[in-house]
Amino acid sequence: MTSLWLADRIATSPASTTVEDLPAFADVVVAGAGITGLMTAVLLARAGREVLVLEARTVGACATGNTTAKISLLQGTRLSQISAKQGERLAGAYLDGNRAGQEWLLSFCAANGVAVQREDAYTFAQSAQGVEKARAEFDACRAVDLPVTWEPQADVPFSYLGGVRLAEQAQFDPMQFLDALRTELLASGGRLVEHARVQRVSGGRDGLRLHVDGPRMSGELQTTRLVLATGIPILDRGGFFARVKPSRSYCMAFDVPGEITRPMMISTDSPTRSLRYAPFDDSEVLIVGGAGHTVGRAKHPTDALAELESWTLRHFPGATRTHLWSAQDYAPVDELPYVGPILPDNDTICVATGFNKWGMTNGAAAALALSGRLLGTRPKWDRAFASWSTRELRGLSTAVQANLEVGFNLAKGWIAPTARIGRQGLGRDAAGVVSGPPWHLQARCRVDGVEHRVSPVCPHLGGIVTWNDVDRAWECPLHASRFAPDGTLLEGPATRGLTAGD
Ligand SMILES: Cc1cc2nc3c(=O)[nH]c(=O)nc-3n(C[C@H](O)[C@H](O)[C@H](O)COP(=O)(O)OP(=O)(O)OC[C@H]3O[C@@H](n4cnc5c(N)ncnc54)[C@H](O)[C@@H]3O)c2cc1C
Ligand code: FES
Repeated sequence: MTSLWLADRIATSPASTTVEDLPAFADVVVAGAGITGLMTAVLLARAGREVLVLEARTVGACATGNTTAKISLLQGTRLSQISAKQGERLAGAYLDGNRAGQEWLLSFCAANGVAVQREDAYTFAQSAQGVEKARAEFDACRAVDLPVTWEPQADVPFSYLGGVRLAEQAQFDPMQFLDALRTELLASGGRLVEHARVQRVSGGRDGLRLHVDGPRMSGELQTTRLVLATGIPILDRGGFFARVKPSRSYCMAFDVPGEITRPMMISTDSPTRSLRYAPFDDSEVLIVGGAGHTVGRAKHPTDALAELESWTLRHFPGATRTHLWSAQDYAPVDELPYVGPILPDNDTICVATGFNKWGMTNGAAAALALSGRLLGTRPKWDRAFASWSTRELRGLSTAVQANLEVGFNLAKGWIAPTARIGRQGLGRDAAGVVSGPPWHLQARCRVDGVEHRVSPVCPHLGGIVTWNDVDRAWECPLHASRFAPDGTLLEGPATRGLTAGD
């Protein structure tokens, strides 16, 4: 499950990782070294701020190193969905922010020798039902002056019933980009410590005290400002875990004999088909993405993945899979990202989340908005990225529905564990089971012949984890924390792993 972008990086020299690397004080601390965190840190360091990045795992370990990395202003059906819920003005401001993010990325890549491929982007219908949504996206793009065209046909080997095209968008290797950001950060006096998880935060406007934990460290440090660029915010204040819907999806890279699809494409209808190519060694591979599900709520992600792979083999005969990977991102209930103070009118702690699988330009926009806020130069478009706004009332019914589902999954997790026994029990390798009465639940899995027993109770807010048979990981169906087979925390709002079982 290593992505194309992370596959050959085993030999990369590690950043600092020990408690000695932890200073007692940093002016600004950024938690998370994905696109949002590293770019925010670079922008602050450029402005002369003393900035420290703390990364729980390694640079790019979560969404950014496992993305598809299309840098596009045509984003599936985002603009039509935003316009429908928030109106054209906010959709226009969202587009302005993404355009600013895209421009920043492209000029940074040009200045730092990061390879970028310029290709057209398509939002297309693969069935009659998808045409209406593609048409709505076309209209929404036109309404905010995005220069799209309607293309009744496209030169692709799969079903295409019409779609929207935006010329000259971009794609890259996100890890090459993060490497260049890291180099600039360190060169301009910023610091980065990997394997350093921010676990607890106390204090307020007068200063913050962070407790940081990792395999080779456990310590405290003080700061005046904290930016949580952690995917989903790790602190519960602000309740962001209840304002986003987490979705995990899969990417596969294929060696394809013959023609490879050039444009970046994503379907409007289900099951989602997302495609791009990528340079690889001296050749190119095709990347196909889809098979998405709410984290922790898919019974057998293997089935959706097998369907996506057989679709690919049907349309690209002779294709051979070279890589398989997955990642998760967060859909905001009111369609617009949340970037700004964790609580209203208090910039001491800021968050950035809700990029809805379009975080290359949204993450860059978030970094521009956050650094602008901290440096006193906020961009005009950042109203479309507000972390607190009355606009959210328009997402209230979605939020209520999402949290009813969370409540249902909480109850289900505690009272029906035996219903989630893997199809072949633990006899099969990579199988996982939660079993036992509510007062003695146990999670057991077998991976590579080794059996692990842990408590299935998520340390965030008590959800009961389920087993993902593709990722070989425990997933919380409530707010998407994820854990390795032995209970080690991988990602999510939780800040501790699952406790050992007996
Ligand atoms: C399958 C998939 C395909 C996608 N494809 C595209 C695409 O083609 N184009 C596009 O624009 N977007 C795409 N996206 C979305 C995009 O990848 C994400 O929105 C973006 O990478 C998010 O970046 P981030 O920096 O905010 O978060 P992340 O990259 O997830 O970084 C967060 C970091 O914070 C760290 N962290 C977490 N908790 C702590 C803590 N307590 N202390 C310290 N560090 C912590 C994590 O380890 C992680 O490294 C895709 C998403 C998915 C899931
Ligand atoms: S992630 Fe919130 S309860 Fe598990």
